[in-house]
Amino acid sequence: MRVDIFTLFPAMFPAYLNESILKRAQEMGLLSVHIHNIRQYTTDKHRVTDEPPYGGGGGMVLKPEPIFAAVESVLANVPTDKRPPVILLTPQGRPFTQKVARELARHDWIMLLCGRYEGIDERVREHLVTDEISIGDYVLTGGELAALVVIDAVTRLLPGALGAEDAAETDSYASGLLEGPHYTRPANFRGWEVPAVLRSGHAARIQAWRRQQALRRTWQRRPELLLTANLTEEDRWFLRVLAEEHLRKHTADEEAASNSPL
Ligand code: ADE
Repeated sequence: MRVDIFTLFPAMFPAYLNESILKRAQEMGLLSVHIHNIRQYTTDKHRVTDEPPYGGGGGMVLKPEPIFAAVESVLANVPTDKRPPVILLTPQGRPFTQKVARELARHDWIMLLCGRYEGIDERVREHLVTDEISIGDYVLTGGELAALVVIDAVTRLLPGALGAEDAAETDSYASGLLEGPHYTRPANFRGWEVPAVLRSGHAARIQAWRRQQALRRTWQRRPELLLTANLTEEDRWFLRVLAEEHLRKHTADEEAASNSPL
């Protein structure tokens, strides 16, 4: 997959891209990243990339010309039907999820445009950008971290990018559930034991335990995910057990409260 990044801060990228799985994916030829400095596409003496907004108000707005010039310089000679999505990173975009990561991983080329400051001239949105993505309901100082988040989540989905073949499939969200707990050596750390089942060597029991832990964690932390997860009959049975457990505890708490002298 090819990724072109358009940014005013190209130096923000190499530290993250040149480590771990992203580094390896590039060495293996699965990922190639091209970083473009928007400022280099200015034509004025002072290399101005932003100006105050028309109509007044605070802040600065990114000018359209250098952004169009930067993106178009890469797209020159690319036929319209071969053009990659041009994705603006912005808190106003559609929420980034594992599903969106899978959707992007199917492209062999994407472009990521990092917004900055208070905003970006609306004509960039209207006439250049084809998609807008937000990585969460908070405001960052720019789209650079969001672009890295997108690249990271997408790269680990590229076939061959992860060591173990199925590692991406068992991730939280891949199955629609959160992952259960993981343990490694030592078996006893400060008196805290690794659950015996994991040391039992009994593959089927381990698998069943892991599934139940994933269901329990999802039920506790993100119950709404259970509405869309792929659940077996056995999963549903276990969820009923959890629900009954919860009800019993809740009723016991209420009784304790009503019997309390306070
Ligand atoms: N730029 C600033 N905040 C952002 C966010 N939450 N997601 C994507 N891009 C952003």
